[in-house]
Amino acid sequence: MNTMNSTIASEAQVPEEKVMPVTEERPEDTVLEEGVTVGKPFADDPKFKLRNVEVFYGDSPAIKNISLDIGRNEVIAFIGPSGCGKSTFLRCLNRMNDSIDICKVKGQLMLDDEDIYHSKKDVVELRARVGMVFQKPNPFPKSIYDNVAYGPRIHGLANRKSDLDEIVENSLRKAGLWNEVKDRLDATATGMSGGQQQRLCIARAIAVSPEVILMDEPCSALDPIATAKVEELIAEMSESYTIVIVTHSMQQAARVSHRTAYFHLGHLVEVNETDKVFTSPEHELTESYITGRFG
Ligand SMILES: Nc1ncnc2c1ncn2[C@@H]1O[C@H](COP(=O)(O)OP(=O)(O)OP(=O)(O)O)[C@@H](O)[C@H]1O
Ligand SMILES: [Mg+2]
Repeated sequence: MNTMNSTIASEAQVPEEKVMPVTEERPEDTVLEEGVTVGKPFADDPKFKLRNVEVFYGDSPAIKNISLDIGRNEVIAFIGPSGCGKSTFLRCLNRMNDSIDICKVKGQLMLDDEDIYHSKKDVVELRARVGMVFQKPNPFPKSIYDNVAYGPRIHGLANRKSDLDEIVENSLRKAGLWNEVKDRLDATATGMSGGQQQRLCIARAIAVSPEVILMDEPCSALDPIATAKVEELIAEMSESYTIVIVTHSMQQAARVSHRTAYFHLGHLVEVNETDKVFTSPEHELTESYITGRFG
């Protein structure tokens, strides 16, 4: 039997309704309407109120009409496939995108009812209130002490050496690092392990008493033990701070966050309580991502 005959024969045997349509719709073909987010994108007591946010790099849209509240003392995780806009959106929250010339941000972004993008906004003060921890630990090439003291010094938060000592110690304690470094505060920070460096960066961020901490994949360069320490820290810090964490680890999002926001191609597809997102997502795209069908 030649191939062509066998193809014809097998086609003939398949009842018509069982033939898969050639253009079967895949989740990634789903047409998303801008500004439509399923679930619970709003909060009763918002720290951030973000409305109709759009971000462009030149003419290319990276964030498409997103509205979201971030609650006070909430830990919210941003998840989604690479390039969907998580870092771009995160960087809007303390105007980190300002340093990218071609980046334009539109919409209303409010922190405690203050317009983050107001022309008279003091960006240095904003970044003291909204601190950031990056993917790769980036300690300054200075001593451990000077890394943590850096922010309080430039913001004039301590008048006396004893006040500064206290801020440094408290910040290192909160970052779970004090016992490991208290006898070598003068050692250079770049000589620490990666996990220690990341906790030092967290200590540096909290030394200026921020209200919000933004974390962009803070554990992706860390081993599981260092990751567990940072996650413990996030749980402790959530009592005093609002935390936004971008992560590629769904287990991490499930462990540390109260709500999870799923981004897709610049859209905010779904926001819900983290348990709900991972057990019964409302949107098919969220489901496809969390079940590993794409991403
Ligand atoms: N500095 C930039 N200049 C031009 N385009 C950019 C810039 N930064 C990001 N983009 C584009 O914006 C879109 C969103 O990128 P972004 O880095 O926010 O995604 P992401 O979700 O954080 O991805 P990843 O998970 O890989 O970190 C992408 O298409 C990216 O190419
Ligand atoms: Mg990113």
